[in-house]
Amino acid sequence: MPDFKTSPGTRDILAPDSARWREFQDVFARTVESAGYSYIIPPMFEDLDVFLRLGEATEVVTKEMYDFHDKAGRHVALRPEQTASVCRAFVEHRPITPWKVWYAGPNFRYEKPQQGRYRQFDQVGIEALGADDPLLDAEVIALAAKFYANLGLKKVHLSVNTLGDAGDREKYSRLLHKHFSKNENNLTSESRATLERNPLRVLDSKREPDQEAIATAPSIRDVISADSNTHFEAVLRALDALNVAYEINNRLVRGLDYYRRTTFEFVSTALAAAHTAIGGGGRYDGLVEALGGPATPGIGFALGLDRTLLACDAEETFAAPEISVDVFVVDTVDGMHAHEVCHLLRSNSVSADRAYDLRSIKAQMKSADRSAAKIALIIGSDEVENSTIMLRPMGSGEQYSIARKDVVAEVMKALKK
Ligand code: HAM
Repeated sequence: MPDFKTSPGTRDILAPDSARWREFQDVFARTVESAGYSYIIPPMFEDLDVFLRLGEATEVVTKEMYDFHDKAGRHVALRPEQTASVCRAFVEHRPITPWKVWYAGPNFRYEKPQQGRYRQFDQVGIEALGADDPLLDAEVIALAAKFYANLGLKKVHLSVNTLGDAGDREKYSRLLHKHFSKNENNLTSESRATLERNPLRVLDSKREPDQEAIATAPSIRDVISADSNTHFEAVLRALDALNVAYEINNRLVRGLDYYRRTTFEFVSTALAAAHTAIGGGGRYDGLVEALGGPATPGIGFALGLDRTLLACDAEETFAAPEISVDVFVVDTVDGMHAHEVCHLLRSNSVSADRAYDLRSIKAQMKSADRSAAKIALIIGSDEVENSTIMLRPMGSGEQYSIARKDVVAEVMKALKK
């Protein structure tokens, strides 16, 4: 056993998975940049207060924060998500609205690690600030759906809901508190504790004994204002116009407290495990204000990279790209020839690798095989004497001699570059 292993809930991502992660972010960038979203890189830690705005009834804040005091005594936290950071950046830089940005990168939550749930996990996401337009809500949702489709995923189910505006949400919360308090004897102890902190979150319980009280709970539709309702209806019409399939789920409340009006979640029906939510988002009108900025509406989503890739595995799509160099140079003379030829090829945009420590020709050919290079270049003493190189297209069983001075052109020809 090694002395050190990764900390619980963290992983090393090695090749070829690491190449798949990069490709994932590239596909995402192409999808959202085509809609005018620009790239933002917020810091990985911020003042704890920034994240406290996620809501003090949110578990992400109360239980899962990686916070610490730095050497100057500042109370900071590793970001548990990036929406709060983007809103803080908006207040700090005051960009022209609508401000449409995308991001990618790790987030940190002290959760119980298991398959699909990590303490360091990656997300890709977008945020659009400064527009109230329901067409924007539909654009944001449709972009997430488009991205999943671009990965080749088919078994992705979209639920949408509205939580009403701030007043509606308050009213609904009170109504739910009343309902669940009346049915308290039928609730699990976990849900009774949740009820005191955040009655909406009781709706999220998947525990069997809670289901009856949840089924009879009032719906947000009972309290929603006419304005919020009109906004939601317009979002649905705009989704219909783009043929985005969805289900209205009145019970959908998301884990973070900042949501107002439109909320949505994507679930992979290909995943059997408990963690099937592969992405989600919604409106957070009010968050910019809570961070000291002017009243500014906002909407966005974040998609979990780790979980989405599990869904890709389950649907056998978006496989890890094959990574290999073009050329492997075998030098049985002194290593210096491979040294120079590799450098020359790399300078001409041909990827090349080699063996070190002057291994036997057999060992070097084995490395060439393992590298999955398309071509092996072999340099022995005869080749050095005649200023030639042996070119072997791998797996063909053939080889031929080329002039060393023509190596770049000959390799390009053989690679059909
Ligand atoms: P969230 O629902 O907390 O929302 O996270 C979004 C996605 O990140 C989840 O659906 C899940 O796929 C992934 N995720 C969350 N926690 C973990 C974990 N511990 N391990 C693996 N994956 C995880 C947000 O973070 C909001 N900021 C989304 C948003 C953006 N709303 C508006 N704009």
